[in-house]
Amino acid sequence: MTIGIDKIGFYTPNQYVDLVELALKRRIDPAKFTIGIGQDKMAVAPLSQDVVSMGANAAAKILTPEDKAAIDLVILGTESGVDNSKAGALIIHRLLKLPNTARVLEIKEACYGATAGLQYAKLHLLQNPKAKALVIGSDIARYGLETSGEVTQGAGAVALLLSAEPHILALDLPSSYYSEDIDDFWRPLDQLTAEVDGKYSTTAYIEFFEKVFKDYQAKTGLTLEDYAAITYHLPYTKMGLKALKQVLPMASDEKQTELQQHYQQETLYSRQVGNIYTGSLYLALLSLLNNDRVLKPGMRIGLYSYGSGAVAEFFSGKLQPNYTKYLDPIYYLELFEKRQKLTIADYEAQFKAQLEPIAPGQVLENQDPSAQFYFAGVVDKKRQYKEIK
Ligand code: COA
Repeated sequence: MTIGIDKIGFYTPNQYVDLVELALKRRIDPAKFTIGIGQDKMAVAPLSQDVVSMGANAAAKILTPEDKAAIDLVILGTESGVDNSKAGALIIHRLLKLPNTARVLEIKEACYGATAGLQYAKLHLLQNPKAKALVIGSDIARYGLETSGEVTQGAGAVALLLSAEPHILALDLPSSYYSEDIDDFWRPLDQLTAEVDGKYSTTAYIEFFEKVFKDYQAKTGLTLEDYAAITYHLPYTKMGLKALKQVLPMASDEKQTELQQHYQQETLYSRQVGNIYTGSLYLALLSLLNNDRVLKPGMRIGLYSYGSGAVAEFFSGKLQPNYTKYLDPIYYLELFEKRQKLTIADYEAQFKAQLEPIAPGQVLENQDPSAQFYFAGVVDKKRQYKEIK
């Protein structure tokens, strides 16, 4: 029996900032953003989209009534959750009308949360092979206006439906992980913007990658030659490339070229969306699967997850026969095309508004025609969500 990713859904809000325009406004050479950091646009969530509504929108795209009936585990990985106690997954579970006979929870460990959810779901499905699990990574990345992290913000959610005998990617059972208490990125309880030691987070990401990749090689005997592609958590698209370059010398010249070509395909969506924290690795996977015409069923993909603080994990999976039938690349092309560009002044105004608490009684309207669910405001201190019928 195999366990793995049966379907992948993605949602990003319908507004973005052009990073060349942002660079010019900040008096920075645009090439630093587009080449040095490797980002072209960043998604901006309106007030009416938060991690709950974005997560529900990502999952609604992929779930059939049969899938919903089989789901008995729902996990939301997020580091920008909307409640200090209650799991946002419970609201998503209600919005999607999933069975009450499900276990529903939220996991936090920076950008690693969705991977923790995926590994939990894998073990759960090994014991309950007839069930399905919904794992969502949903986040709004906020560093602050005019900070060095500003260019690496973004917003969006990825939903993974996991099952036995999956249609897209069967996960290999081994996994390698490494954890250490470090202060490379954190967000104090009273802040909506993150604190980061950018250079330290970059070196930690690479060092942790080398550790888990080496350990995985020792555990499984798999070498770089065994992977068609390696997908990375992408806080910005240059980041994964830095890590890939650490191990490339282990491979033949031909394999090195191949891995770098596949890497370009996995970065296409992140370049347009920015950092979505917990969902970023899985957005890279979706971008690779939707855009890469060289990949074939049976090929092995490596996955590197990193959550600051910090936990890293390396694991892998094999592409399943006919996996392309379970993907919808045209939908995502249209999703990106339909987005609206914000002026820098509008983006700054929205950013500042989002740092303020929602006023009691303030009613929010949906602003995104591609959204099925949105956050409608707060009544009696309870967050309200609505579905567009
Ligand atoms: N043309 C092309 N490249 C340029 C350039 C130009 N005009 N100006 C600078 N660059 C390059 C730099 O050489 C550097 O490349 P390198 O990393 O390959 O050496 C890159 O652009 C970034 O420049 P740097 O001066 O390091 O940028 P910064 O001090 O503004 O910080 C981050 C960049 C990513 C560290 C910062 O945005 C950040 O802290 N982001 C959030 C944290 C994060 O994403 N961490 C990742 C791990 S989870």
